[in-house]
Amino acid sequence: MSLKKPKVTVVGAGNVGATCAQRLIEKNISDVVLVDVIEGIPQGKSLDLMEARPVELHDRKIFGTNDYTQTKDSDVVVITAGIARKPGMSRDDLLKTNAQIVGSVTTEITKHSPNSIIIVVSNPLDVMTHLAWLKSKFPPNRVFGMAGVLDSARMRFFIAEALDVSCEDVQAMVLGGHGDQMVPLPRFSTVSGIPITELLPPHKINEINERTKNGGIEIVNHLKTGSAFYAPASSAATMVEAIVQDRKRVFPVAACLNGEYGLKDVFVGVPVKLGMNGIEQIIELKLAQEEMEALRKSADAVKQNVAKLNELALV
Ligand code: LAC
Repeated sequence: MSLKKPKVTVVGAGNVGATCAQRLIEKNISDVVLVDVIEGIPQGKSLDLMEARPVELHDRKIFGTNDYTQTKDSDVVVITAGIARKPGMSRDDLLKTNAQIVGSVTTEITKHSPNSIIIVVSNPLDVMTHLAWLKSKFPPNRVFGMAGVLDSARMRFFIAEALDVSCEDVQAMVLGGHGDQMVPLPRFSTVSGIPITELLPPHKINEINERTKNGGIEIVNHLKTGSAFYAPASSAATMVEAIVQDRKRVFPVAACLNGEYGLKDVFVGVPVKLGMNGIEQIIELKLAQEEMEALRKSADAVKQNVAKLNELALV
């Protein structure tokens, strides 16, 4: 099947990958190659999505395959491959298995799409992004992770719910690793420009912060057999859109820091500008002392897991 540019590959035809692919074609963002190791799954899901086209009324194409040569010359690659958590597991429990998967996927992607931009979605997010960066040897503006868009989307939803206002008018900022130590920033979260600190009492803001930090596990505990996928898929698709349409959108994403926020060689969520070159700018907020300490702590947790990758000889 011949696909139009921009060409986006989604690796992993599980819940996150298939839903992300669906968002990309049905929102007319790009054609998609959906690749997975399991024979039949990417082919079946892609055919099903193609058969929905006459009803959904779009002309975007999706092609399912187990063969990485079909991903050749992709502009953007979204890596969702790996296992998801079950109740009682932390994202870090996935480290060894997913590092093996993300490592080999990155090698294939690098070989077939040497100029692509890689968005990592697999968990533990920041560590897998670091691994993809090391394996690909791409510059850091072309390898980053999806988590801040998701974490801030969750926070936006909780704020909108608390104030009974439209999600459209709510902005939120969540920094740090995509783990228990992520750093929601109420000072930088607003409703039509009004800081939420002016609209909600401190105890309610604390509740929203805690629910945001536990947003992933709250869904895992409901589903029991896997983790969230609708909001993660929407978040990854939005990042792809920002890149392929060169929209220069500003979101928190897991980016490699090079001295910003006093941190170096570590991937954590910070606000960036996303456009056709990937990360076009890292935005450095002036953080209060306790916000900065929380960010450092979160970055330390990520660094400890990156050290585990080295100990397990997975890089
Ligand atoms: C979550 C998982 C996907 O936050 O990390 O839902």
